[in-house]
Amino acid sequence: QRHLISAADLTRDDAIQILDTAEEMARVADRPIKKLPTLRGRTVVNLFFEDSTRTRISFEAAEKRLSADVINFSAKGSSVSKGESLKDTAQTLEAMGVDAVVIRHGASGAPYRLANSGWIDAAVINAGDGTHQHPTQALLDAFTMRRRLVGRDAGLGQDLAGKRITIVGDILHGRVARSNVDLLHTLGAEVTLVAPPTLLPVGIESWPCEISYDLDATLPKSDAVMMLRVQRERMNAAFFPTEREYSRRYGLDGDRMARMPEHAIVMHPGPMVRGMEITAEVADSDRCTAIEQVANGVSTRMAVLYLLLGGAVFDAKNAPAATH
Ligand code: CP
Repeated sequence: QRHLISAADLTRDDAIQILDTAEEMARVADRPIKKLPTLRGRTVVNLFFEDSTRTRISFEAAEKRLSADVINFSAKGSSVSKGESLKDTAQTLEAMGVDAVVIRHGASGAPYRLANSGWIDAAVINAGDGTHQHPTQALLDAFTMRRRLVGRDAGLGQDLAGKRITIVGDILHGRVARSNVDLLHTLGAEVTLVAPPTLLPVGIESWPCEISYDLDATLPKSDAVMMLRVQRERMNAAFFPTEREYSRRYGLDGDRMARMPEHAIVMHPGPMVRGMEITAEVADSDRCTAIEQVANGVSTRMAVLYLLLGGAVFDAKNAPAATH
């Protein structure tokens, strides 16, 4: 593939190849020199029209670890505020010689448009578009689940068949939920979504997952529980649930976490709103993988960039280190 727009576009083999390559990339992070010369001479632009901490910084770290030249673009402070279009912005950047564009945009479909309009030749990677998709988040989440629930070495070449994953919270506005459902289904996991009816999208019945309104009943049957933030910024204030009522029914606290099987993990893509969907006690517990997910995001994004920009099967043991 030339682009990564949606988790739904990945076959099981594609996904496993990315996860296995990410494990090889993670081995590089264990070496004294963490940098590879692989993308020397290639240029990647990070084109962010929406705020980000984890995705933007981890893509930049991944690009630098692969020795790419990195251009960071943020809509704030750019000529976008003067009315410049996505097309003109992208073509302006491409005129500077860009091999790949990592784009986050508030409009669902913006990365697809960029990849398929003929405006630019560069590979396009979706870093989150509106309420639509966030495929590298789903990949790093699957990487984290496979490592924790199957094993770092035992997981190589494996999918997540039979693993029971519960995703809790704002499914309506959440591109993370949609991307995870797509990828987890492809990888053979059984997914249950738990949310208030007002935070489920129209057409949810056609998604390849179960729906529940009862978090307490679902927790004991989960291998991983992924808590999602309620996306206040995409919501009419009149429909925003109060923190108290939401956390009472759908928040994860220590008592609820105790209902999970001993081996089960708590996940969160971040940013977390402590006291709303997750208590500080849970967020800071050993069972919560939120920080591990961020670290895994660098290896996963290295794998995506490497494979999209033409890399062959990657072997960390024999890969040379970058000299500068
Ligand atoms: N998980 C995630 O996409 O976080 P950021 O919005 O900080 O990139």
